[in-house]
Amino acid sequence: MLSYRHGFHAGNHADVLKHFVLIELLNYLGQKDTAYTYVDTHSGAGLYSLDTGYAMKNAEYETGIGPLWDRDDVPAALQVYLDLVKAMNPSGKMRYYPGSPYCANEVMRSQDRLRLFELHPSEIKILSENFRKLEAHKAEQGERQTVRGKRIMINAGDGFEGLKAILPPPSRRGLVLIDPPYEVKDDYRRVKVCLEDALVRFPTGTYAVWYPVLSRIESKQLPERLKRIPANGWLNVTLSISGPSPDGFGLHSSGMFIINPPWTLEATLREVMPYLVRVLGKDVSAKFEIESGETETVKIKSPVRAPVDRSARGTGVGRPQVGSLRTNNANRTDANKGGARTGTAAAPSRDLGQGKRTARPANLSKTRSR
Ligand SMILES: C[S@@+](CC[C@H](N)C(=O)[O-])C[C@H]1O[C@@H](n2cnc3c(N)ncnc32)[C@H](O)[C@@H]1O
Repeated sequence: MLSYRHGFHAGNHADVLKHFVLIELLNYLGQKDTAYTYVDTHSGAGLYSLDTGYAMKNAEYETGIGPLWDRDDVPAALQVYLDLVKAMNPSGKMRYYPGSPYCANEVMRSQDRLRLFELHPSEIKILSENFRKLEAHKAEQGERQTVRGKRIMINAGDGFEGLKAILPPPSRRGLVLIDPPYEVKDDYRRVKVCLEDALVRFPTGTYAVWYPVLSRIESKQLPERLKRIPANGWLNVTLSISGPSPDGFGLHSSGMFIINPPWTLEATLREVMPYLVRVLGKDVSAKFEIESGETETVKIKSPVRAPVDRSARGTGVGRPQVGSLRTNNANRTDANKGGARTGTAAAPSRDLGQGKRTARPANLSKTRSR
């Protein structure tokens, strides 16, 4: 089932959280000269128009980028994200919103590589066309690539499967963003399976998973399941702009679960999340949560690399041979890191009675997450 179109949701509160964290992670990787690879398993269209088409329908950007647009008190780390979005809108009017591939492309250097996957036949066409125009524009400006092969590769296919064939990346440095629609509950299972496999192939990679915080059981279980995946550490951040609506429709809360996060991320989030709650919060239930933990890892000698069948249109098949044995202690909270902490909005900054309700697009099922 492929009915999800991210254009309906572009620039909403969930995109703000996801893209702000994404930019933080990429900028951290960019601190070293060595090239890195960014993999986007679910890329979407890359760039969205906010004043035409899908985004106009429910104006979800009013829950996210909208209230941030004219603020002059934005914390420095969040300002980096805001500046990037504003750079897409040189007229100063909020017209375009960059999806994750565009955010990444703006941050990444000429030596870094983007590997983008998208399954939807219409979205992949738009994504490819967007990047074709962007690259043509950059070539016109005289920008040249410094990596051999293509800096950006766009794959029409299943990102969960395609990831197998490209891990580990050549430089052994990289970030993978996993951002499925969660239209079908199997996405929750596939996220976990995909990460377990990826961490065998590329244990030192950083992985970021966006997920909706919903009342459905699969959503509640996902972060708990991810905490138990063997890795060096994890960080989980959620942003709720309100309590759940009485009818259960709409997305009020989402999270980013990061495996092997940079050590700097938690402090940055502690600075930015209270601000996001204050500015985006719609009622007294608005809050953020940050929790982190570590996993004990016991490696056995000579880990066996998982085999990849590269014959299947560039996607790997076959189960990995697990070459390392690990004991998992992910649910232990580290006292030094403070374990889980919750912050709430001091006071919503806007008139709640006037707040636009996020109506559900007509073509969404009740379990649709965003
Ligand atoms: C939430 S959107 C991605 C948004 C994008 N990451 C961003 O932040 O701008 C999810 C996308 O995944 C695509 N998709 C769904 N299942 C997929 C799969 N198995 N592999 C690759 N793409 C998939 C959908 O068509 C949709 O465009």
